[in-house]
Amino acid sequence: MKSILIGRGGKKLPLVGFGLWRIDNDSCADAVYNAIKAGYRLFDGACDYGNEAGAGDGITRAIKDGLVKREDLFIVSKLWNTYHEAHRVEEIVSKQLADWQVDYFDLYLMHFPIALKYVEPATRYPPGWFYEDNRVEPGTASIQETWQAMEKLVDQGSVKSIGVSNFSGSLLMDLLRYARIQPAALQIEHHPYLAQKHLVKFAQENGMVVMAFSSFGGLSYPQAENTESGKFLSLLEHPVVVSIAERVHQSPSQVLLRWATQRGIVVIPRSTNIERMGLNLTSTAFDLEEGEIERISSLDVGLRFNDPMQFLGQFPIYY
Ligand SMILES: NC(=O)c1ccc[n+]([C@@H]2O[C@H](COP(=O)([O-])OP(=O)(O)OC[C@H]3O[C@@H](n4cnc5c(N)ncnc54)[C@H](OP(=O)(O)O)[C@@H]3O)[C@@H](O)[C@H]2O)c1
Repeated sequence: MKSILIGRGGKKLPLVGFGLWRIDNDSCADAVYNAIKAGYRLFDGACDYGNEAGAGDGITRAIKDGLVKREDLFIVSKLWNTYHEAHRVEEIVSKQLADWQVDYFDLYLMHFPIALKYVEPATRYPPGWFYEDNRVEPGTASIQETWQAMEKLVDQGSVKSIGVSNFSGSLLMDLLRYARIQPAALQIEHHPYLAQKHLVKFAQENGMVVMAFSSFGGLSYPQAENTESGKFLSLLEHPVVVSIAERVHQSPSQVLLRWATQRGIVVIPRSTNIERMGLNLTSTAFDLEEGEIERISSLDVGLRFNDPMQFLGQFPIYY
């Protein structure tokens, strides 16, 4: 499996991993077990997905059955917005590790550059975005405070590397000013309708592995979440993607994944369908021509499906 190195002297990270968003906890163990069986070694989870205990069961079963060893896996998890205060970070990562039944994460990401008010896990877990009466209640921690607490996790060995997700270039520039441990990865929405070319270049030039989410565009997002999305053709049906898929004798989905991985960007597609799971995993087995990559890149229209302000902005935000 093709891979990329993370951090200085870091571990190898497969270019194709398995995303865990929108898999319910009850079916997550089977999804993860089947994915390991199919050959996946990189898993992208998060507290917010509400299925880390299920994922942990799947991994534990796979290790018990001799399919893999812990060190063969690359496990990514994320810090949710309600745990940004320094003293909450260590507390919550311990719970997440216990859910996964492992003693370290290979990569731990700040999920969003947004701090929300703390919610006790016993009250609500995962806590999500909203409080009583659909209110949004920001927390007090700065990104610097949170990052410094994440650096301590690396010192303690509970996470091997740290990074960020959903950060803009300006937020990254700010972070790089004070980071004692440089961010090893940036996870962002990245597909031909939202290529974020300059952000990708900046992150890669500054030593970050770029991880793309939502590689197929809006498939995971019901139209209601983004009223603009309905105006755009599904990327899987776009004539540019379809014609290139015909030339390389692959599916449009594989072309979309290869468009990213051929530029050194890690992809983490999610599929609970065994056939599509396998298809996605083999998407590094062919190459696109430079001109084909450029034609796909030219579809960029800055269309973002995962924008917290799109939905948070509809509700009262209480400071
Ligand atoms: N950091 C963040 O804020 C953030 C945000 C969003 C996502 N993520 C991560 O990125 C991962 C992937 O992003 P995503 O959840 O937006 O999903 P995605 O992988 O872009 O799309 C998932 C959808 O595509 C379908 N699909 C998968 N493979 C296919 C194929 N070969 N052909 C046709 N359809 C296919 C799946 O259906 P079937 O199951 O039926 O195949 C599912 O409906 C997430 O699971 C999560 O780990 C991170």
